Amino acid sequence: MRFSGVTIAAGLHLSVALARDVGQKPLGAGSKPAARQPNIVFILTDDQDLHLQSLDYLPLIKKHLSSQGTSYKRHYCTTALCCPSRVSLWTGKQAHNTNVTDVSPPYGGYPKFVSQGFNSAYLPVWLQEAGYNTYYTGKLFNAHTVANYDAPHAGGWTASDFLLDPYTYMYLNASFQRNQDPPISYEGQHSGDVIADKAYGLLDEAVAADKPFFLGIAPVAPHSNVKATLFEGNHPGDFENSVAFTAPIPAKRHEHLFKDVKVPRTPHFNPDEPQGANWVRKLKQQSQENVDYNDHFYRQRLRTLQSVDELVGGLFKRLAKYNLLDNTFVFYTTDNGYHIGQHRLQPGKECGFEEDINIPLIVRGPGVAAGEVADVVTTHIDLAPTILELAGAPSRADFDGEAIPLRKEELDNTTTLRHEHVTVEYWGFAASEGKLFGDDAQRMVLNNTYKALRIISKGYNFYYSVWCNNEHELYDLKTDPYQQRNLLHPDEKSPTTLLDGVAFDKVVARLDSLLFVLKSCKAQTCTRPWQALHPAGNVQNLHDALASRFDDFYVAEQKRVRYDRCELGYLVDAEGPQFETHGLVYRHGARWDEWA
Ligand SMILES: *[C@@H]1O[C@H](CO)[C@@H](O)[C@H](O)[C@H]1NC(C)=O
Ligand SMILES: *[C@@H]1O[C@H](CO)[C@@H](O)[C@H](O)[C@H]1NC(C)=O
Ligand SMILES: *[C@@H]1O[C@H](CO)[C@@H](O)[C@H](O)[C@H]1NC(C)=O
Ligand SMILES: *[C@@H]1O[C@H](CO)[C@@H](O)[C@H](O)[C@H]1NC(C)=O
Repeated sequence: MRFSGVTIAAGLHLSVALARDVGQKPLGAGSKPAARQPNIVFILTDDQDLHLQSLDYLPLIKKHLSSQGTSYKRHYCTTALCCPSRVSLWTGKQAHNTNVTDVSPPYGGYPKFVSQGFNSAYLPVWLQEAGYNTYYTGKLFNAHTVANYDAPHAGGWTASDFLLDPYTYMYLNASFQRNQDPPISYEGQHSGDVIADKAYGLLDEAVAADKPFFLGIAPVAPHSNVKATLFEGNHPGDFENSVAFTAPIPAKRHEHLFKDVKVPRTPHFNPDEPQGANWVRKLKQQSQENVDYNDHFYRQRLRTLQSVDELVGGLFKRLAKYNLLDNTFVFYTTDNGYHIGQHRLQPGKECGFEEDINIPLIVRGPGVAAGEVADVVTTHIDLAPTILELAGAPSRADFDGEAIPLRKEELDNTTTLRHEHVTVEYWGFAASEGKLFGDDAQRMVLNNTYKALRIISKGYNFYYSVWCNNEHELYDLKTDPYQQRNLLHPDEKSPTTLLDGVAFDKVVARLDSLLFVLKSCKAQTCTRPWQALHPAGNVQNLHDALASRFDDFYVAEQKRVRYDRCELGYLVDAEGPQFETHGLVYRHGARWDEWA
């Protein structure tokens, strides 16, 4: 069961190899064609926050990336969990279209990535078809293990050196597996140092091959340290019993740093009143002992990130030495964000709050403005389209995202045409990764299944979500930047209006209909959802949709987003009405069904 589809994918290796030969551009040594495809270096950390200020402690990343490139301050992941987020990143698809929604089978992990057919349909494969050599080191996916790495091998890589489960998150006992070779244990060496050596080695290889290259580098910092055993997980209990979380472990030379640093004490840090909805709203305020431990956990994250900072410094030194900076784009991002103590949450991710979904993205490269901060809304789903465009390769009709404007003049040009929303979704459990304090503290919380959206423009800034138990959340981040007042909780008094003098319920109805489209959207509907509701094209954004002539359409006629039950994976029949079968559309002043 676990490896169904493996044989199909193994068969596809051949066609990948053939495609590579066909796509290869003959660039003889020394020949310098006028417009050589740019090289791309992609650095992907694990669980790095933007909102807990981790970037403030990384001087070399600041020097080489933020100061020399553009930071995308509204960059979002769409599922705040490593494996689903990475599969979405490399395929350009929302998790509801990959159906890789978890870290391990049956709903996720490397075996699910393979059985869904993506081992021959993801970014490195397409880049090879476009003439690139492709290199990767570090963590690719969860449940990519010392037992299944060759069943089949991950497709699309010219050379690879993967960090494998169950040793992925053991900072002092990493196991890597190079090309077709068996895994090697690096017991006693720090994972951050091992990966830096491997990254530099792959860069040397890429340069020697004298072809445009993509180099992916995925260190494990600042993820928590996890001592795990291999498990044939089918039940969250298996996961819980086979893993032990502790704070991340830095390299010796970084252990002494940041002794006085604490998690930023923002207004939503360990608040006096409960916040949010569902299980979050039931959390107890943390004791001083708990807060002290979490501050330690936070410092350990900053310390492990120092290894990444040094790796970035080392890379730029080599890129400069090889004289490649003029024709290389460097991306720096992470798979998902992280919270520690906000809304009383223990260290972890998997939530829809800004800490978990709004994450670092920095890009440096030819034509990219130095020291710029861009405020366009971008997501991980947009990265595969962006990189293919840089490679000069054709885009794909089934992408759920669209290329991110990178160069200054493209950025200045985008504001009105680009999407203003992010589709956020989650299935399954949330884990507390720190120490458990109190007798009733839980490592895993089930029913952490929800659909949500973020929508941001000059005039508005909302987070709206529906949970699988049908609780709702709405934050107006313009007036409540720390998401402390859930305007849809029965204990909160909702305001009379939310936006443009339009009644509260009427605005909420629009947000709900937008989520109704987004929660099962495919391809262009994911970037142009209003078009699905208004095919005439007269509504491009939330502002347009607020027109009072659409009140009935949104408030009275549309089906509402709801779940029939909580599931651990994407089972359509648990997820209530679907837009494709139950949605209404509006055209030229009349509902579509009155025209047709
Ligand atoms: C380190 O990893 C190797 C396998 O790569 C394993 O045999 C060994 O038991 C591990 N050591 C510890 C302390 O977990
Ligand atoms: C700016 O946008 C216009 C209209 O979409 C387009 O024709 C033009 O090529 C764009 N310019 C750049 C530099 O992207
Ligand atoms: C999870 O949701 C289901 C309904 O879908 C409910 O029966 C169950 O009690 C919930 N479990 C918890 C722990 O809240
Ligand atoms: C997603 O995968 C699960 C597990 O294999 C399966 O039960 C479910 O039907 C799939 N969902 C969709 C929408 O294909």
